Amino acid sequence: MGVSKQALSFLCLLLADRHRVVAIEEPGYADARIVFSHHGYEVVPIPLAEEGLSIEALEKSEATVVYTTPAHQFPYGMVMPVGQRQQLLQWAKRKNGIIIENDYDGEFRYNVHPTPSLQGMDRDGCVVYIGNFSKAFSPALRLDYTVLPRQLLGRYLESFQAYPSPVSRHLQRSMQLFMQKGYWEKHVRKMRTVYHRKHDALLRAIQTTCPGKYAYWDSQQGYIFYSRWTLPVQRRSWSSWRVWQMFGCIRAAITGPMIRRMHARE
Ligand SMILES: Cc1ncc(COP(=O)(O)O)c(C=O)c1O
Repeated sequence: MGVSKQALSFLCLLLADRHRVVAIEEPGYADARIVFSHHGYEVVPIPLAEEGLSIEALEKSEATVVYTTPAHQFPYGMVMPVGQRQQLLQWAKRKNGIIIENDYDGEFRYNVHPTPSLQGMDRDGCVVYIGNFSKAFSPALRLDYTVLPRQLLGRYLESFQAYPSPVSRHLQRSMQLFMQKGYWEKHVRKMRTVYHRKHDALLRAIQTTCPGKYAYWDSQQGYIFYSRWTLPVQRRSWSSWRVWQMFGCIRAAITGPMIRRMHARE
């Protein structure tokens, strides 16, 4: 499979005969919203509850497809608990709907037990799982994968076999061998340790250098976490994006040398 937007584009074509309204977390992954809009879907924004997508708001909507990031909500970072996942699966069963699960950085969990994926919990064939290697390995590969339920797999193969994957066979084969020889597991374990240290270093830096200035949501998961400047913002031009940029600079300045030292020690 190619990049996740292409996978989503195929999915849009595949679902178009039965579904026209798609629910997306708000805030959520803007690129997914763009792809659905390009394909003429009505996109309904669904607000977030404390633990991710609000099932109550979803129930009230006309949507029969939902696009969600349950492992690590993008961008806030909350992890959808198992009970809420079950409710979501029940919603899909009742509506004859489809859940698109984007697990974009689920490999990275620190000090927390893994939560089962919706795809793993699904007994009714209503979950499409999209994973990628952009975060855990390299965005340069443009390598993603989609796990389709049986009801869609046959139609997918029928409709899209003529479209070759945009990812070269050499790369696909290299990744296959990388996994078969056990390097993938090793790599993920190593990167989990590196990102865990970066994550903790960043949190410590925020707590010690800007105490009380940032509110942050730390789910001990993923390679990003969301933070918000809590002091009153004087000038309108100080949009949250500028704060993000500033935050990125602080992160790079503080964690960069620290991580280089860690690598040097390894
Ligand atoms: C929420 C989210 N999902 C998925 C992706 C992966 O996209 P791609 O595989 O096209 O790099 C990204 C990339 O930034 C992302 O932020």
